[in-house]
Amino acid sequence: MILIDILTIFPEYFESPFRIGIIKKAIDGGLISIRLVDIRRFSAHRHNQVDDYPFGGGAGMVMKPEPIFRAIRHVRQGGGYKPRIILLSPQGERFSQDKAAALAGFRRLAFICGRYEGVDERVSENLVDEELSIGDYVLSGGEAAALVIIEGISRLVPGVVGNQESVTGDTFCGQFLKYPQYTRPRDYLGMSVPPVLLSGDHGKIDEWRLTQSISRTLERRPDLIDPDGSARLHQEDGRRRATAAGTKGATGSRKPPRSSGRS
Ligand code: ADE
Repeated sequence: MILIDILTIFPEYFESPFRIGIIKKAIDGGLISIRLVDIRRFSAHRHNQVDDYPFGGGAGMVMKPEPIFRAIRHVRQGGGYKPRIILLSPQGERFSQDKAAALAGFRRLAFICGRYEGVDERVSENLVDEELSIGDYVLSGGEAAALVIIEGISRLVPGVVGNQESVTGDTFCGQFLKYPQYTRPRDYLGMSVPPVLLSGDHGKIDEWRLTQSISRTLERRPDLIDPDGSARLHQEDGRRRATAAGTKGATGSRKPPRSSGRS
């Protein structure tokens, strides 16, 4: 059982996502418990104000420290285990499959959803165990990020996903992206399933899937195989030398990356 507290000024944001799919199943099965904590309840201000102007000037408002510290104090009372406290913000470490697996090992987690232009720095410096981002873009708050992370973690809590193979075989559980998947019909409007998948030869199928995974990863996410780009630089160097010597590069040509859809 993992107990998750979500500190937010919009508890209603989470109403429907937790009532469907695997998170609902996990909650119903007693594998995960989620509590929504409304930060406004911990404001000492008459109008439940939770934000204020930034010292030093600048655009937007900053979330005040007191309501968040008080909300965390409330969360820490009871519940047994000490929660791991996570702040969602675009300045955080990038969330990943490894991070999901690490967090799934905790008995208690508490997510603080930032809003406005940011959260008073004393929260991240003195209250928070880690700061996480779901990617290099700015959302208007941490709620969507908390949802993404909780869904990523929930799948890894033993018992939540029936077939553990479907979790360990996921993209990002290994080094490569997942291979293409097909289901019935065998032929749809002339678009047919690769014959190897219908062959019944599981050795060949495994080999095909691995090849597809590798080529798809090289094409779409070469950074997963070669994070610092050194192999690419080596390859380009090799190609340049080969061209200078009047021969073709070792790897030949590759399909260009898929277009972003923008022209
Ligand atoms: N809050 C705003 N943008 C965010 C992001 N990219 N990740 C996590 N929390 C955020």
